Amino acid sequence: MEVIIAKDYETLSRQAATIIAAQVIGQPDSVLGLATGSTPVGTYKHLVALYREGIIDFSRVKTFNLDEYYGVAPDNPCSYRWFMEENLFKHINILPENTYIPNGLAQDTAAECREYEEKIHRAGGIDLQLLGIGGNGHIGFNEPGNSFQPATHLVDLDQQTIEANSRFFASPDQVPRQALSMGIKSIMAARRIILLANGKAKARAVYEMIRGPITPELPASVLQLHPQAAVIIDQEAAALL
Ligand code: GLP
Repeated sequence: MEVIIAKDYETLSRQAATIIAAQVIGQPDSVLGLATGSTPVGTYKHLVALYREGIIDFSRVKTFNLDEYYGVAPDNPCSYRWFMEENLFKHINILPENTYIPNGLAQDTAAECREYEEKIHRAGGIDLQLLGIGGNGHIGFNEPGNSFQPATHLVDLDQQTIEANSRFFASPDQVPRQALSMGIKSIMAARRIILLANGKAKARAVYEMIRGPITPELPASVLQLHPQAAVIIDQEAAALL
């Protein structure tokens, strides 16, 4: 696992955007795995700027997002679909039909999860997966547990995750209790992974991910096994290393 310590969030975001841009320039029909949360917002801003400067073309790119809240409609401003439209998709020339996010309103969640995996497979697999990390070490919404969940699945969110994400909702009781998330196998199957983390609230999880044992109790630790994984962190997130 390559560890890159950036001096601040701005530098981290620029570095991540540069890696994604290089991927898309080198392979215009790239399949990107994308993340939500506060962490990648700066990266998306830089990608939009690179698009506006005519440096990257998203017309042949496909994207698959890691997760979506269960029971939340795409036009709900708290949905991850909404987040992606606002922070990236509506500012670039990606085709709407090439942006995939699990359907939070699916009645048959098992079928939705299976079909999501099939769509990734049919697209040729993920070339570059962008990740954040939860304070409890989750990636996507793969929460700490007894085993690594392999494929896309319905997740019961941790209390810590509900509290952390309540800042995006009017009140903590409005945070959905479940989500559809790509699994650890879905993430690990990506050819290349970059995980971003900034701020001191992530320092413990970052330390455990890089230096701790590989365990489903700290889901991000599995990335130690990925042959092409890079972690880009700011100095605060690197404080315990
Ligand atoms: C969310 C998402 C993750 C994200 C993480 C950290 O719950 N499901 O994909 O990486 O939590 O979020 P943030 O970047 O806002 O700290």
